[in-house]
Amino acid sequence: MALEKANERVKALELRMGGGHDGRPANGAKQLYTGVDIGTANVVTVVLDEDGKPVDGEIMPGSVVREGMVVDYFRAVELVESQKQKLEERLGRPLTRVASAVPPGTEQDNGKITANILEAAGYEVQGIIDEPTAAALVMDIKDGAVVDVGGGTTGISVLKNGKVVFSADQATGGAHFDLVLAGGLGISISEAEERKRDVKQQKRLLPMVRPVMEKVATITQNYLRGHKVDTVYLAGGTCAFPGFAALMEQFLGIPVLLPQRPLLVTPLGIAMACRNMAMSADRKKER
Ligand SMILES: Nc1ncnc2c1ncn2[C@@H]1O[C@H](COP(=O)(O)OP(=O)(O)OP(=O)(O)O)[C@@H](O)[C@H]1O
Ligand SMILES: [Mg+2]
Repeated sequence: MALEKANERVKALELRMGGGHDGRPANGAKQLYTGVDIGTANVVTVVLDEDGKPVDGEIMPGSVVREGMVVDYFRAVELVESQKQKLEERLGRPLTRVASAVPPGTEQDNGKITANILEAAGYEVQGIIDEPTAAALVMDIKDGAVVDVGGGTTGISVLKNGKVVFSADQATGGAHFDLVLAGGLGISISEAEERKRDVKQQKRLLPMVRPVMEKVATITQNYLRGHKVDTVYLAGGTCAFPGFAALMEQFLGIPVLLPQRPLLVTPLGIAMACRNMAMSADRKKER
């Protein structure tokens, strides 16, 4: 199966998140590489060892980003710092080398702010990449499109020979599901968010959120027009809603692949990128 390796990677991370165990010793790593994803809905930190195996991770809700851009610098530093401390306490050693990612096209200013946040939290920044490139690392994508539907945005990127050749970002995501449910059911946004993630209720909610899914599918369809894309790979927490991948596939008429735990895909890819960048910097130093 196409996403077998990606699913194994994400599953290994899930087992380790929050200090979880999978039988491997927690403190045996020679090197630690960290990825921090500062998203609209969640801030996630992932730690990998020298072999790229997940060691530990932290996830916290936070509203420090709007439509892909950092809007609350100080709170972002606090959240990143607090995840770093928790992880360091559990691992009994400092985390130093880090990477992060931003929506494509915002690398310049938003990327700089993100790097500053990481430095303020006490990290050494190896690099800031774009989000779809991070997701593509996890799913081993060389050719195809990545569609990352997070809390606030839908990011679409087309890859050719492993390089991003086109990308776009639209402010439609999980928050819009919440708005539709809150309005339709006469409940608060936080109640809507809870119900949306309750597996027992999702089937009943599908007709209400279907228009938002169709909007995401239409956005994707419009952006992919003119590009030769034969497979779409999903990432981002919103893609976990049952029926989402099937609706996308029906709309686009090409295979749409959904990894397990899509919410963890981009954060994991960022940590993988940190490891790649740090290892290549080390190799250069040795020469
Ligand atoms: N099981 C689920 N079903 C539907 N939606 C879910 C599920 N789990 C999480 N979500 C939604 O996924 C979103 C968070 O996803 P993710 O962490 O990928 O976003 P983010 O990276 O913080 O945001 P962005 O990339 O837009 O800045 C939230 O809107 C949340 O409600
Ligand atoms: Mg995201």
